Amino acid sequence: MALQAASLVSSAFSIPKEGKSSASFKDSSLFGVSLSDHAKADFSSSVLRCKREFNQRNGAVRAQTTATTSPAVNVASPSGKKTLRKGSVVITGASSGLGLATAKALAETGKWHVIMACRDFLKAERAAKSAGIDKENYTIMHLDLASLDSVRQFVDTFKQSGRPLDVLVCNAAVYQPTAKEPTYTAEGFELSVGTNHLGHFLLSRLLLDDLNKSNYPSKRLIIVGSITGNTNTLAGNVPPKANLGDLRGLAGGLNGLNTSSMIDGGDFDGAKAYKDSKVCNMLTMQEFHRRYHEETGITFASLYPGCIATTGLFREHIPLFRLLFPPFQKYITKGYVSEDEAGKRLAQVVSEPSLTKSGVYWSWNKDSASFENQLSQEASDVQKARKVWEISEKLVGLT
Ligand SMILES: NC(=O)c1ccc[n+]([C@@H]2O[C@H](COP(=O)([O-])OP(=O)(O)OC[C@H]3O[C@@H](n4cnc5c(N)ncnc54)[C@H](OP(=O)(O)O)[C@@H]3O)[C@@H](O)[C@H]2O)c1
Repeated sequence: MALQAASLVSSAFSIPKEGKSSASFKDSSLFGVSLSDHAKADFSSSVLRCKREFNQRNGAVRAQTTATTSPAVNVASPSGKKTLRKGSVVITGASSGLGLATAKALAETGKWHVIMACRDFLKAERAAKSAGIDKENYTIMHLDLASLDSVRQFVDTFKQSGRPLDVLVCNAAVYQPTAKEPTYTAEGFELSVGTNHLGHFLLSRLLLDDLNKSNYPSKRLIIVGSITGNTNTLAGNVPPKANLGDLRGLAGGLNGLNTSSMIDGGDFDGAKAYKDSKVCNMLTMQEFHRRYHEETGITFASLYPGCIATTGLFREHIPLFRLLFPPFQKYITKGYVSEDEAGKRLAQVVSEPSLTKSGVYWSWNKDSASFENQLSQEASDVQKARKVWEISEKLVGLT
């Protein structure tokens, strides 16, 4: 909803792109957004193969990763009573918005140690301090998802830290609604899909083995999705709609040279690239579930936390949009949620014993109660999920 509504507001206030007329549908839909849109292999061998390939590729230049096993899950308290050890959760993009609010919500319970996987160390440190997160409850590790090399280095560093991995939250994202030309990751993939999908795809594949080793009562891999990519809602039908087409652009490497920078092979559109990346996130979660849940017991989940209209996600939008979007969400669509509330929602998906069902896309109703939401046809297309997985494996160098 957030970004459909973002599109709606932006249609009224954004600078028109060359060759694109501002469709009247967008404008007339501005007040048509309803609240109901909110309410409504073999594991071992593939992991070993993945590890082998990773080591082969990196062996010459990087230190060998250390095999880690989880520490005892029950630890003795001062009273001698055994209690559950702290959970260890990696959250990407924890330097602002939803990621920071989630880190705060989890750290505050005293039951979690949060590894804030961020591209800007100082920003993350300041953010953790200003959020009042106790030093004992977080560690910052560098991760730039727009560089696959950085993803691999993060994984190395994490493994060498000896920390267990109980939950991985793929939260970071970029959104470039006003970009006129595509920009690219270090490896030359269009930035939104390269960061939001491919960076997280490699990260979660390389850390799957660590998650599987966790002896925590519930181990989880969460990939933050969005209503944005779901065309089964009114808001999801606001142009530009998510559409991966036949994946020809993705298969071509999204480099904008010999192929399109867009997954479906079309002309670049920054808002659509973001929505497409979110469809990939939700497809990836389900493909993980199909491939690995039964064998590993890992819970794979996605979610739409609500419209957090105040976060940095909208930083590249024009100032007028940023001014009007929060009140628009609060008073017109009523889909607004505060960063604190959204952080609590994601923290539930990380830690609530009642949310262990795998393969689910969680949403929350007006009363802030979680429910299993329906994904759009494309975002739940089994064949497409498999193809996105296979192409992504090639692009990030796993096959
Ligand atoms: N805001 C909403 O209404 C809304 C609605 C639905 C879903 N979501 C989802 O919520 C998640 C968080 O978004 P947000 O709203 O909290 O936005 P945000 O405040 O902009 O947070 C995005 C985070 O991603 C990080 N990031 C961006 N590029 C990165 C890279 N290359 N490597 C590592 N980290 C990178 C940012 O780091 P820096 O601090 O260094 O920039 C920031 O910490 C996203 O997945 C988004 O799709 C948001």
